[in-house]
Amino acid sequence: MSKSKIKIDRVTVEYGNNVKRSWFGLRKTQPSPCEVGGRVVLKDISLEIQHGEFVSILGHSGCGKSTLLKIIAGFSTPSTGKVWIDGEEVVGPRPDHVFVFQEGALFPWLTIGENVAMALRSVKDARERQSKAQEYLALVALEGVENYYPYMLSGGMKQRAEIARALAAQPDILLMDEPFSGLDHLTRLHLREEMLYLHIMLKDTTILFVTHDIDEALQLSNRLIILSEPPAQVKCVRSIKVPHPRNLASEDLSDLRANIYHHLGVHTAI
Ligand SMILES: Nc1ncnc2c1ncn2[C@@H]1O[C@H](COP(=O)(O)OP(=O)(O)OP(=O)(O)O)[C@@H](O)[C@H]1O
Ligand SMILES: [Mg+2]
Repeated sequence: MSKSKIKIDRVTVEYGNNVKRSWFGLRKTQPSPCEVGGRVVLKDISLEIQHGEFVSILGHSGCGKSTLLKIIAGFSTPSTGKVWIDGEEVVGPRPDHVFVFQEGALFPWLTIGENVAMALRSVKDARERQSKAQEYLALVALEGVENYYPYMLSGGMKQRAEIARALAAQPDILLMDEPFSGLDHLTRLHLREEMLYLHIMLKDTTILFVTHDIDEALQLSNRLIILSEPPAQVKCVRSIKVPHPRNLASEDLSDLRANIYHHLGVHTAI
């Protein structure tokens, strides 16, 4: 068995194309990646991720990044191949893994404090849970909003609350699917800094981070993985040994940036 934190072993995902007739006409059934005979999205992906690594996954829209993350999370099963975590095969979601969704997933009927406290269910005392929730909100610079409902926060604040909830769960593995998408540039830059600080603090947490923002990936990651267009394979893997805080204008990182753009098929405007 592998000594890596996460081992992805020849994972292929093929989405089925089952179409069932219903009273309302043609309707697609809930497709399952296990169904064979449809479209291959991921093909023979093998990767190993080490304990405490921050790995960014890049690739064109629709190439299968979220699909890969959901398979690692145990939300879905590959058509062939396996994922191992700490030497155990992934057969479903695990409580010590937290997923930060691309589309955001705060419970709208709970206050921000209650949302974060949800992740602190092991803390039995309600007051202690509340005060710990406030500590996690403070970590992402969200003091004083614990009694607000999600609709009362800006997009950036919601994302930060979601990150606070994820951190409160003290996850062993944090799977983040474009957690800063849809935010303005300045908020992204602030969250990027916070993420860097949090990763330095939580050095035991292994983070997989899907992003389209190459600078974000360059600033945060120990390693970058670029997927090719579907059926996606690992196109290239780059380690970044530059210490933090990183100067993105440095020669090393500028060269790496140009190389990544090149792999993504962008040859101008870099
Ligand atoms: N449940 C599903 N059933 C059928 N096809 C799916 C399903 N989920 C995703 N797909 C298809 O798989 C491909 C990869 O989707 P995925 O969401 O993993 O892409 P992505 O790389 O995360 O894209 P983006 O960067 O836009 O978020 C897409 O073509 C999508 O239509
Ligand atoms: Mg996605």
